[in-house]
Amino acid sequence: MNLDYVKKDFLKDIGEASSLPTLYEVKAKYVGRKGVITAAFKEFKNLSPEERRERGRLLNELKEWIEWKIKEREREILEAEALRRELEGFVDFTLPGRRVKIGSLHPLNRVLREIIEIFSNMGFSLEEGPEIELDYYNFEALNIPKDHPARDMHDTFYITDNALLRTHTSPVQIRAMKKRKPPLRVISAGKVYRRDSDPTHSPMFHQVEGLLVDEDVKLADLKGVLSEFANRIFGGKRKIRFRPSYFPFTEPSVEVDVECVKCGGKDESCVVCKGTGWLEILGAGMVHPEVFKAVGYDSGKYVGFAFGLGVERITMLKYGIDDIRLFFENDLRFLQQF
Ligand code: PHE
Repeated sequence: MNLDYVKKDFLKDIGEASSLPTLYEVKAKYVGRKGVITAAFKEFKNLSPEERRERGRLLNELKEWIEWKIKEREREILEAEALRRELEGFVDFTLPGRRVKIGSLHPLNRVLREIIEIFSNMGFSLEEGPEIELDYYNFEALNIPKDHPARDMHDTFYITDNALLRTHTSPVQIRAMKKRKPPLRVISAGKVYRRDSDPTHSPMFHQVEGLLVDEDVKLADLKGVLSEFANRIFGGKRKIRFRPSYFPFTEPSVEVDVECVKCGGKDESCVVCKGTGWLEILGAGMVHPEVFKAVGYDSGKYVGFAFGLGVERITMLKYGIDDIRLFFENDLRFLQQF
């Protein structure tokens, strides 16, 4: 056996052993019990004593050298693996942290909560009603019979001939009054639907309804409540005004304007109020006797007022937003501003 060849082969093998298992295979191949070196010792039989001694010395040297090389390689592999493991779990504490994005309330929910809070503080309690509503509650009981022209403005999505997506929160007035006896002070909030879509109208939007029924209620009480509401929602002292209007379920009916939140009525070229100085914020009125009749309240004894406001409209005025569709596009660049 040519020991130079053995040495060469070994160097090639060990050079290729990059993991412990392959290294141990190489170890077994050369210095194991059935390895190359053991085989070489067995070739001694036929040699003279001198040759044997000389050959034995060379073989032992080679064996020691191989074992030493294997130890060295083993250490290298272990070090490389330790380094790799260390790098895997390596944490660079000098890097800037990754920010966790925190969610926030949608501007509509934020304003909705503010509105509810304001009326709660005035003693109104929250009442709920369904979004899929019966014709009876949405129209009939509110003094809007089948052929009433007011139905035009309230065109909506019908589920059946008798069930529809509510066009306003006023049906909750009926539900609340049928459930309870006066005196009554309730608000209701939620989604309503109409066949409408442009920069200031969305087919789905939010309303807050208010209803107060008692024995000695006047239009001036309505004005007081709404005036206080305007002050609180827009901040500061806000003038409001009533304009005559019409709703089948209130008499008299009014539309309520607030002093322009942008210019306060001082800027003739104001884009928000278009120079009028006033912004319409809601519809209201004194509960119509026909409505009391529908719910079985004595209209000789009880009087009430009701109002309904659009949450989108209030939010747009409060924050100077000019397109209602921004609320529903879920663009974070818009939402993150609140
Ligand atoms: N329900 C009316 C609308 O949606 C608003 C309203 C509510 C008017 C209560 C008067 C009283 O247009």
